[in-house]
Amino acid sequence: MSIKRIEIADLIKQPKIDETVLIKGWVRAFRANRFIALNDGSCFGNVQVVVDFENFEEALLKKISFHACIAVEGKVVASQGSGQNIEVVAEKIEILGEANPEEYPLQPKKQTMEFLREKAHLRMRTNTFSAVFRLRHALSYAIHKFYNDRGYYYMNTPIITGSDAEGAGEMFGVTTFAPNEAPTTEDGKVDFKQDFFGKSTNLTVSGQLQAETGALAMGKVYTFGPTFRAENSNTSRHLAEFWMVEPEVAFYDIMDNMDLAEDFVKYLLNHVLENYLEDLTFLDKRIQDLEKNMKKEDRRTMGLIETLRFVVDNSFERITYTEAINLLRNSKPYKKGRFEFEVEWGKDLSAEHERWLVEKKFQKPVIVRDYPKGIKSFYMRQNDDGKTVAAMDVLFPGIGEVIGGSQREERHDVLKARMEEMNISEEELWWYLELRKFGGAPHSGFGLGFERIVLFVTGMSNIRDVIAFPRSPGTAEF
Ligand code: 4AD
Ligand code: MG
Repeated sequence: MSIKRIEIADLIKQPKIDETVLIKGWVRAFRANRFIALNDGSCFGNVQVVVDFENFEEALLKKISFHACIAVEGKVVASQGSGQNIEVVAEKIEILGEANPEEYPLQPKKQTMEFLREKAHLRMRTNTFSAVFRLRHALSYAIHKFYNDRGYYYMNTPIITGSDAEGAGEMFGVTTFAPNEAPTTEDGKVDFKQDFFGKSTNLTVSGQLQAETGALAMGKVYTFGPTFRAENSNTSRHLAEFWMVEPEVAFYDIMDNMDLAEDFVKYLLNHVLENYLEDLTFLDKRIQDLEKNMKKEDRRTMGLIETLRFVVDNSFERITYTEAINLLRNSKPYKKGRFEFEVEWGKDLSAEHERWLVEKKFQKPVIVRDYPKGIKSFYMRQNDDGKTVAAMDVLFPGIGEVIGGSQREERHDVLKARMEEMNISEEELWWYLELRKFGGAPHSGFGLGFERIVLFVTGMSNIRDVIAFPRSPGTAEF
């Protein structure tokens, strides 16, 4: 096989009938010892390879099995069958990597998501996961493109952090001390002064505080990196290691921040609708198939693509936290005692409350702002009412919170007082306070949970199925 290999995406895009081509990929199906569906990941579609079994040895044909890797040289012809425009008539076939069906863990049939999670090293070869991971890539690219085209600078913030003050969640410690062998101080606590960094350190829960230094120098920055939370929340929406996109913008107030969030998310959805319709169509159909046997009330009211279009075409609802509480207290489920968690001003909204607002009341994304200061972080700007802060959460149907953000407290004295009230160490965050002392300015930002938006776009139901190797309580395989 001496000719240059062509990728299947290019072959399908611009087929040259009668040309001899070399393609390589993984066998998705081999029907009737005659038709191979070959996929190399370059696009959703497969190429059909036609095999005249009389021209090949039986020993070789036997090795053309589900997910085996093969190279095929053959002639491009117009397809006889339906479903594809062209096919490749095999002249030479080489087995690059066998996948003996007697040992290979995956079967060419429907397998549960739980099973495939245990085979995460192989699951990207399936239609579903290759579509999911192409879309994940597409969203990453669109994130960089969105910010680059608007003059933002991409900033990388540290993964190991010396402050644990953000309060976004439980942290994973980082140390070179062996367990049980850590030196201790006189009062029996671990003596981190003797540790690698000379202090206690953790994996970061967010790049925000450092991104603020960028915004107050470069104007508009964003981070896009891994973040870590050790909360023991074993849900289909939480990971211990996830990726977050955090724009931070000087001179923006909470209203500008909400506009940015809405434009940003719509841009991402538009990008995949315009460029990845094949993958989306497959996932859309997959959900319909899954829901066929469900009760009507459990099914989604809209298809996947329809939902994405709907979000792009409609403005997000914007309400204050106080309005949300009033709406909830007047709702049917509240009056009938169907909410599990209390609805009371000053308490956080729980997932069931958020879902009612988004899925029942407004039936579209909702941005809730001006939360009680008691349930939000120390750095959020206090509103004039003395009770609320300029925080905002973007809530999505089926997912809940995809974005959390705020206008930041830029007033040095107010921030200092708030830190004292909340027991946040000034010693640790001296630099953060200095940003308010020297050349400070009003500024705002937010964090988009990357996997949450991938979840929404792909219509998958568990967040562990939209990151290649999920980390969650009890799992860190691969
Ligand atoms: O609301 P959060 O905690 O906000 C922050 O960390 C701010 N520092 C962001 C900022 O203002 N720059 O997290 C932001 C988003 C959430 O809205 C959610 O989408 C996602 O991150 N998120 C998680 N995603 C997966 N697994 C988890 N355990 C998550 N925790 C938060
Ligand atoms: Mg949040």
